[in-house]
Amino acid sequence: MNAIAEPGIHLDAPAYVRNQALLAWVAEMAGLTKPARVVWCDGSDAEYQRLCQQLVDAGTFRKLNPVKRPNSFLACSDPGDVARVEDRTFICSAKKEDAGPTNNWMDPAAMRDLLQHGHGDGAPALFDGCMRGRTMYVVPFSMGPLGSHISHIGIELSDSAYVAVNMKIMTRMGKEVYDVLGENGVFVPCVHTVGAPLQPGERDVSWPCNKTKYIVHYPQTREIWSYGSGYGGNALLGKKCFALRIASNMGRSAAQGAGDNPGWLAEHMLILGVTNPQGKKYHVAAAFPSACGKTNFSMLVPPAGFDGWKVTTVGDDIAWIKPHSDGRLYAINPEAGYFGVAPGTNLVTNPNCMASLHSDVIFTNVALTDDGDVWWEGLEKDTGSMPAHLIDWQGKDWTPALAAQTGTDGKLRPAAHPNARFTVAATNNPALDSAWDDPNGVPIDAFIFGGRRSTTVPLITEARNWVEGVYMAATMGSETTAAAAGQQGVVRRDPFAMLPFIGYNMSDYFQHWLGMGEKLTASGAKLPKIYTTNWFRKGADGKFVWPGYGENMRVLKWMIDRIEGTAKGQEHVFGISPAYEELNWSGLNFTPEQFKTVTSIDKAAWQAELKLHADLFQQLAYHLPKELQDTKAQIETRLAA
Ligand code: OXD
Ligand code: MN
Repeated sequence: MNAIAEPGIHLDAPAYVRNQALLAWVAEMAGLTKPARVVWCDGSDAEYQRLCQQLVDAGTFRKLNPVKRPNSFLACSDPGDVARVEDRTFICSAKKEDAGPTNNWMDPAAMRDLLQHGHGDGAPALFDGCMRGRTMYVVPFSMGPLGSHISHIGIELSDSAYVAVNMKIMTRMGKEVYDVLGENGVFVPCVHTVGAPLQPGERDVSWPCNKTKYIVHYPQTREIWSYGSGYGGNALLGKKCFALRIASNMGRSAAQGAGDNPGWLAEHMLILGVTNPQGKKYHVAAAFPSACGKTNFSMLVPPAGFDGWKVTTVGDDIAWIKPHSDGRLYAINPEAGYFGVAPGTNLVTNPNCMASLHSDVIFTNVALTDDGDVWWEGLEKDTGSMPAHLIDWQGKDWTPALAAQTGTDGKLRPAAHPNARFTVAATNNPALDSAWDDPNGVPIDAFIFGGRRSTTVPLITEARNWVEGVYMAATMGSETTAAAAGQQGVVRRDPFAMLPFIGYNMSDYFQHWLGMGEKLTASGAKLPKIYTTNWFRKGADGKFVWPGYGENMRVLKWMIDRIEGTAKGQEHVFGISPAYEELNWSGLNFTPEQFKTVTSIDKAAWQAELKLHADLFQQLAYHLPKELQDTKAQIETRLAA
């Protein structure tokens, strides 16, 4: 097929692209967005190197010192394009109530007018000509191992070479995808533009983007349209848009057909393997909100006192979880790389991550050192001092003295943006699980839900049953971080750590979890245990009490002891938590008093907390499952006793 995009521009699709629906869609999109040329990405290393060099030539990338950081690049974004834009993210389901009160909604027809067709008043559609003067990259990718029954295929059309090279790292991207797709296979169409068409002869900027941003999902037709941002989850459409918002819809609709199909789950969860000294292996999937330590936990190095224990990474951000015929839930990591938060990462918090970053990395919005390497806040802990001079993420000189003058709240002005990221292939990780690419996934023994709370929520609690676990996850609160644009450090309810990522009505999502539990139990399946954790409780001095990072192994081991039936635990108002003696303290000096500070349950604080649960339930009243109201009432009764 050779459809015309701009007069004289041909699609020139490679012969191996045989899917007629795909060819027709690319032609239609080229006709709408009017790029100067179309490039079909094949996912080869040569292509990656060529695009990286092109980005260097365009001033988007800086090549880092090849001795210190081989084959690695630094990109610095526009200062207005540094995080996911939740207030510009839309779920355009046919009915508003199907998007629910936690999502922005617009009528799909009105959104299509805005993006594709234009208004009756003659205003042009946002995507009409949005790629003028640019290249449209056709990026074929598989979320999950190629050809796995759990995987799905997407095609992203993007006018950003930065997106194309990041997608090569973050997904299984390349021409093999077309073999799986064949002539009639289905794919999720993803259209992305930075929204900055170029006039003939116009000089490009290093990070093109547009002040107007739209991150749009059509759940019914399973399409993604993204306008105006080049950054992370706004632009790498396989990640949040597809693997969470669209996939959560897919997993639920699988359960809505006839029969007892429980459907499947698309979750904001890391997946790790933990092997005990006897060689027995367990798998845990854990949901923490953005920038709350999922990558660190997934790469945890067991501390002193845990000889012979091993933790391995299956995934660090997203899990697709499906019931298997053996009665267990199996999870795959749909991604192939990590798009992790750099600040705070160092040899203490995540040595495996530091090792992963030695080469072949794309850094975004970190600082540049005088010898052509990268730097971010937290690395001073490894070296013992702050660097004397840097170029910060906005290209300005940074010295400790300058940073002190321009900082706020008595703190140094950060050299790296707090949401600065690294993009690196999973295969760089020395702790990568041998089954990370297994098309069948790994069997899950436990789910963890963890918020960031300075007060109230104890270090670790086990739910007594599935419904209680769903309640804990549904009512989870967390202090906000820099991963999303907006105010930081305020507690917001973040059910299942999915608030910004659920692609349909939140109460229906709770019901999907409950329904899955019911159907699986009825079929005799073994459900994973559910835990909630909080690593972030602070003492009277305002400092974190729990040492966190590798020391979280102590909590993980208790969960395994519970699965094995060797830890008794102590029942309380909303679940089961360990007694001090039940944790292995070998190698750590952590007193019973400190333990009390991170585990105590303050009745008054919980009564106040339950009022916040009530507010949440009021907001989510439409379709809110009765089981959750009942569980709340039971906790209230126990609290009042
Ligand atoms: C992420 C996020 O990028 O959650 O993973 O924001
Ligand atoms: Mn995430």
